[in-house]
Amino acid sequence: MEEYENIYVEEDARVAFITIDRPEKLNALNRATIAELHEAFEDCDQDPDIRAIVITGSGEKAFVAGADISEFSDFSVREGSALAAKGQSLLFDYVEQLSTPVIAAINGFALGGGLELAMACHLRVASSNAKMGLPEVSLGVIPGYGGTQRLPQLVGKGKALEMIVTAGMIDAEEAKSWGLVNHVVAPDELSAFCESLAQKISKNSPVAIAAAIRAVNSGFKYDEDGFKTEIEIFGKCFGTEDFKEGTTAFLKKRKAEFPGK
Ligand code: COA
Repeated sequence: MEEYENIYVEEDARVAFITIDRPEKLNALNRATIAELHEAFEDCDQDPDIRAIVITGSGEKAFVAGADISEFSDFSVREGSALAAKGQSLLFDYVEQLSTPVIAAINGFALGGGLELAMACHLRVASSNAKMGLPEVSLGVIPGYGGTQRLPQLVGKGKALEMIVTAGMIDAEEAKSWGLVNHVVAPDELSAFCESLAQKISKNSPVAIAAAIRAVNSGFKYDEDGFKTEIEIFGKCFGTEDFKEGTTAFLKKRKAEFPGK
């Protein structure tokens, strides 16, 4: 595994664990961290043995407390849009479109870019002490890493606008009632819970999982017809080794052993 400065990556039985490791800055996303995360996600996605990824923040206080404010406080209009465009393509859109499912283990504050990162992941699990919000308008900007788009997709326009324009935070239980997180667990159970979810995923066909992610994402793209994409990708599954293995194993009453990505 590659060595990084701001993150570390561990592997256990087909699951990769990526930890953002700047606890003294509440794991705020600076440029270097975003670049390292891109590399780590790419490596994990290309590794045929990695079937699911869990991402979390180090320390007990924060998942990620946002983009690193110290890096952009003197930016111009041009630099501001470049920051958002680069971040979205390197990390946020990249994670959403990854073939390998990513679980956000939200272990504390997930604010601004932190919540946007969690929302780009495929599943979200929060510890009961987590706090979530998009405080950007309190700084004179708007969410720039996909927050204005993904939050309404997850919780509906009304709740999304309330969170964005108040710049307020909600706790884990409220986030669950909004549909923003899938599960809430005790802080000391977060890691094990996410690992068991990841292990469950890892037993299924990685080829079909990648196809399912692609089909679901397609429905949220204005220039694509999600139903058409589903038909096309459904058909393609019939030509895969994983489909042969999955159906043969079922008919022979044995467990499927999928060949890999
Ligand atoms: N960017 C850069 N540094 C950040 C940061 C961010 N988004 N969030 C926290 N930090 C740094 C603080 O500056 C501080 O560094 P210092 O010790 O060198 O001064 C350190 O992390 C600890 O944060 P601190 O504010 O002292 O902790 P707290 O417990 O008092 O408050 C928060 C926690 C999360 C409420 C507070 O840090 C905060 O509001 N952060 C910014 C959240 C935000 O607006 N994010 C959106 C950015 S677009």
